[in-house]
Amino acid sequence: MIRKVKGTRDILPPESRLWAAVEAEARRVFGGLGYEEIRLPVLEPTELFVRGVGEGTDIVTKEMYTFTDRKGRSLTLRPEGTAGVARAFIEDGLAQRPGPQRLYYIGPMFRYEKMQRGRYRQFGQIGLELLGAATPQADVEVLLALHEFLAALGFDDLVILLNNLGDPEDRPRFIARLKEELAPQKEELCGDCRRRWDANPLRILDCKVPACRAIVSETTPIAEVVSDGARVHVEAVAGGLDAIGIPVKRAPRLVRGLDYYLRTVFEVVSPQLGEGAVICGGGRYDRLISDLGGPQVPGIGFAIGEDRLIDVLPPAFRDRVLGTRPVVILPLVPEAAAPAFDLARQMVSRGIEVRVEVTGRSLRAGLKWATKLGARAAVILGPDEIAAGTATLRDLDQGEQEQRPLAEIPDALAQSKHAEP
Ligand code: HAM
Repeated sequence: MIRKVKGTRDILPPESRLWAAVEAEARRVFGGLGYEEIRLPVLEPTELFVRGVGEGTDIVTKEMYTFTDRKGRSLTLRPEGTAGVARAFIEDGLAQRPGPQRLYYIGPMFRYEKMQRGRYRQFGQIGLELLGAATPQADVEVLLALHEFLAALGFDDLVILLNNLGDPEDRPRFIARLKEELAPQKEELCGDCRRRWDANPLRILDCKVPACRAIVSETTPIAEVVSDGARVHVEAVAGGLDAIGIPVKRAPRLVRGLDYYLRTVFEVVSPQLGEGAVICGGGRYDRLISDLGGPQVPGIGFAIGEDRLIDVLPPAFRDRVLGTRPVVILPLVPEAAAPAFDLARQMVSRGIEVRVEVTGRSLRAGLKWATKLGARAAVILGPDEIAAGTATLRDLDQGEQEQRPLAEIPDALAQSKHAEP
């Protein structure tokens, strides 16, 4: 047997219905706010992520699926979507269009990570980016889009964590101070953190090892060291969110695993998932496009981990999506095939979900199959019905049945569909 690659998943029905329903909701909410879909390659030049995500990040140093193609070019399966959006913005001249650009994307990302619950090597992301607006209002709108999407799915227990990373100019000052404060306990930090000391010291703030967390919790938060511009910006974002009733929790030591962020950064966590299982991450990246050789265009966005989101979906949403019940059509003789498919066609156009029996089951076996499927009704087309131009409509919950003219069947089923609680 050939098995799937470790860390990848087969999303089977009916779970695949949840994915489609979640994505439909994202399209509806984001589309309503003027965001349009951008579909980008999964394969990009490796350099895009080295320069975009950052040379010292975990993603670039140890998690990328990188290979050389037949012409010796280094390519990488995208580990995230923002760098690709920035590349497309530059390459496709999106700056020439009336701005700002409101974009979203849905698709697979790839990271060679250690596997655990909620962590895969191929995972889905639903991402959104607003390019060309540097105001705090832009940040508020992006967080509104995120909040409305999660609310539409019925979430009420997710927490948005917010922090201020300051401007890149603030960082050397902050890092110097952090190292000064941590120096006396440097030897007590975990091996990873001691390695991060030179390569990516900000990430020490993000360590999940309890001993490191205790040490870090005593350090000065970055927000206390940032420039006035960054402080005013993030306070305005917090104020703007408060004004529209979107709750956020300040997380003074929140940092992100990608280098392009400045000022506003945020994550969404679920109390249902353990520590570190973040559902969504995002923030502002005003230098990314120019760092990649494009114009000075600011940006802000987020990406939701779809696998993790689906893992904690509210039961009411799951039930709504998974609880639909089809109607089965049982053609019992060859002459019944054409009327069966004709009925199916009419029912589908009315939004009634149908399953036509095509394996040649008898009436008894067909009804058994219908029950297993959880069907609400069966339309039986036997020789008598065909001769009379009728069908037998059987209610599978009540066990009652009646013979009706074929032409009335779709209407009858549409009505009973709406009569359900
Ligand atoms: P990120 O925090 O690296 O940010 O990823 C966003 C989300 O993707 C995470 O919060 C998590 O839910 C999900 N995710 C990441 N790695 C995995 C994995 N191995 N398995 C399952 N889910 C995972 C970004 O990717 C940024 N591009 C977000 C962004 C957009 N920032 C601005 N715009």
